[in-house]
Amino acid sequence: MAARLRVLRTVPALRAAIRRWRARGERIALVPTMGALHAGHLALVRAARRRAQRVVVSIFVNPAQFAPHEDYASYPRTFNRDVAVLTEMAVDLVWAPPVAVMYPAGFATRILPEGPATAGLEDKFRPHFFGGVTTVVGKLLIQCAPDFALFGEKDFQQLKVVTRMAKDLDLPVRVIGVPTVREPDGLAMSSRNAYLSAAERAVAPTLHRVLSGCAEKIAAGAPIARTLDHGRTEIAAAGFAIDYLEARHAETLAPVASAKDGPIRLLVAARLGKTRLIDNIGA
Ligand code: PAJ
Repeated sequence: MAARLRVLRTVPALRAAIRRWRARGERIALVPTMGALHAGHLALVRAARRRAQRVVVSIFVNPAQFAPHEDYASYPRTFNRDVAVLTEMAVDLVWAPPVAVMYPAGFATRILPEGPATAGLEDKFRPHFFGGVTTVVGKLLIQCAPDFALFGEKDFQQLKVVTRMAKDLDLPVRVIGVPTVREPDGLAMSSRNAYLSAAERAVAPTLHRVLSGCAEKIAAGAPIARTLDHGRTEIAAAGFAIDYLEARHAETLAPVASAKDGPIRLLVAARLGKTRLIDNIGA
């Protein structure tokens, strides 16, 4: 039987555990999550295990990254199942602070990211989002003091924003990106896929199909603007309301006019009924 997994909920208890590992010279990897774990999260846990003797998974649905009209209240919460899965994976510790521990009364400090956080992608449609992410990830990195922190390419702009923040704030951590894990039909795994009706779920893989088609055409020399216009038409025809489908430089997220300005990343966000999906791919 797997050893019992420790779930900690206060900063002093967390610090004591981290200190004990450090005293033995063990390396620590952190996987920040909002729970409702799926195979995408578990790929991060496996990548963490390959790099460090100790793996910490944080589970915290961060109110600071949701706007009032967004899905904070209804965000899927499956804590007991998440802990059972992480126990099977021999994770060492779950860091699950209550909101009042992360944001105690009087909390009044935020991180304000720029650069990749103002690229005009997610930030344009969720202006509150990256400030909330960097504030909580900054806190998680300070609380857990890991050697490595793992983030999914699924949230490509978030990965760039967090990488920049760690650099800019001299946080002694290596931020590592992990490739997107997909369903067999190509749909990127996401906790929010649980919101899709059966009919929407059948249409959802269109995003990845169109991204792949556009990436192939651009790699074969097709003009970017026209290729993306076709892609937008296809996505809309499948029933999505598009927020964006864009080609950007894979490192800076700056707009790119032609393939020679690459490496290129294609990024998409679109709504299907009440569910907002994002995805991206290298071109
Ligand atoms: P969450 O959506 O729970 O995702 C946690 C981590 O899992 C993120 O780094 C995300 O990119 C990664 N992930 C999600 N789906 C994935 C997939 N299909 N393949 C690979 N990785 C995937 O992202 C957040 O939480 C929050 O913003 C957080 C960073 C925890 C801050 O609150």
